[in-house]
Amino acid sequence: MESISFKRNKYSIIMKKKIKKEYTNGELTIVWKPEMCIHAAICVQTLPRVYNPAAKPWITIGDANTEELKAQINKCPSSALSYFMNNEDYNVSESKSFETEIEVLPNGPLLVHGQLKVIDKDGNVDVKDNTTAFCRCGASNNKPYCNGAHINNNFRD
Ligand code: FES
Repeated sequence: MESISFKRNKYSIIMKKKIKKEYTNGELTIVWKPEMCIHAAICVQTLPRVYNPAAKPWITIGDANTEELKAQINKCPSSALSYFMNNEDYNVSESKSFETEIEVLPNGPLLVHGQLKVIDKDGNVDVKDNTTAFCRCGASNNKPYCNGAHINNNFRD
């Protein structure tokens, strides 16, 4: 079950268990993994008619076209939002290049833009295809990923 609250003029979504939800417009499907969200609120700021944390469901996919949705989702710094085209297989090919760009978010996570593989301490492989946020503050309980805990811990560089 989820609860949504507002804190310090930012949207804060507090999750009680892992959830993966999908929203489709018939052409594209948005995949939302709230446990990955770092509460940057870029989705709410760039497409407020689609993303409204005060509404249920909080994503109204029909209020934007596919290209607008893709452009916005590609800006999600945590990859909590991703998408796949319904008429394509969603596979990250082993042959794709793994070019990356690394960005330090002030007072926040390390953002890695591009395709990468993350191998966890147990050897599990997670393939990332957009932007991935890695914890720099040490407070995340979803390491190596940022989970937004830096905000409540007032992490400062
Ligand atoms: S940097 Fe975000 S939880 Fe650590």
